[in-house]
Amino acid sequence: MSTGSATLEVPQVSDVPRHVAIIMDGNGRWAKRRHLPRIAGHKRGVEAVRAIVKACVERGIGFLTLFAFSSENWRRPPEEVALLMQLFDAALSREVARLHRNGIRLKVVGDTARFAPRLRELIAEGEQRTADNQRLTLTVAANYGGRWDILQALARLARAQPEALAGPIAEQQLAPYLCMSYAPEPDLFIRTGGEQRISNFLIWQLAYTELYFTETLWPDFDAAALDAAIASYRQRERRFGRTSEQLEEAQRAAAADGRRSAAAG
Ligand code: IPE
Ligand code: IPE
Ligand code: MG
Repeated sequence: MSTGSATLEVPQVSDVPRHVAIIMDGNGRWAKRRHLPRIAGHKRGVEAVRAIVKACVERGIGFLTLFAFSSENWRRPPEEVALLMQLFDAALSREVARLHRNGIRLKVVGDTARFAPRLRELIAEGEQRTADNQRLTLTVAANYGGRWDILQALARLARAQPEALAGPIAEQQLAPYLCMSYAPEPDLFIRTGGEQRISNFLIWQLAYTELYFTETLWPDFDAAALDAAIASYRQRERRFGRTSEQLEEAQRAAAADGRRSAAAG
């Protein structure tokens, strides 16, 4: 069985990324340029989410992961944090039915224990209602931090198999306890808003992900902008540690295999 780990085995690569992970940045600046309060940018950001979810479904992308609130975003002014929580609450109340109609499975990853009980209920209900949908898995990372994820995985491994921590720990032992164990590792990472950093997003899972940074602010990020990111992704040579020559050889062998099975069938 495939481990799904880019470090344990060389993954299959396809033209359409199977999993796209996005840091949706630039809402505040979008609003500031228009002399609007920051929350107006966040509201437009929710609209951009709707459009990108639709575009991902249309393009046959299986997994879309969106960074909505980082474990460090609590450092923002309390009024902004409160408004972001309200917006998340409103978006869940409004959008889950639409997601479900469109065959989308919703997942929320992060330390949700700090959220209001009502918000936690909305999350649980949304996840339960859409659990069997298979068209696209939309993961929202909320109060998520990549370091937190690794530490909570270690803690859960320690509880399940205390003996595992005595010796060297293999990747396959830890991987099932990471928040996104249900998804393949991201093929394409996008960060809008011009900053070129990971900001404690999926630090484990991004080990071999292709990184794409754009100046476009999140509220302006649309299907055409997504296509530009995918076009850039297609230009990349994903070597996973090998040489270009090895890659070409593997592609020739795969093409010859394809010709043989076409002739046989
Ligand atoms: C991203 O936009 C949304 C969240 C972090 C919640 P920002 O609010 O960080 O926007 P900028 O970076 O200030 O423009
Ligand atoms: C990253 O954006 C987190 C989210 C988009 C949710 P930030 O705007 O908070 O990132 P930094 O602080 O500039 O790195
Ligand atoms: Mg920002």
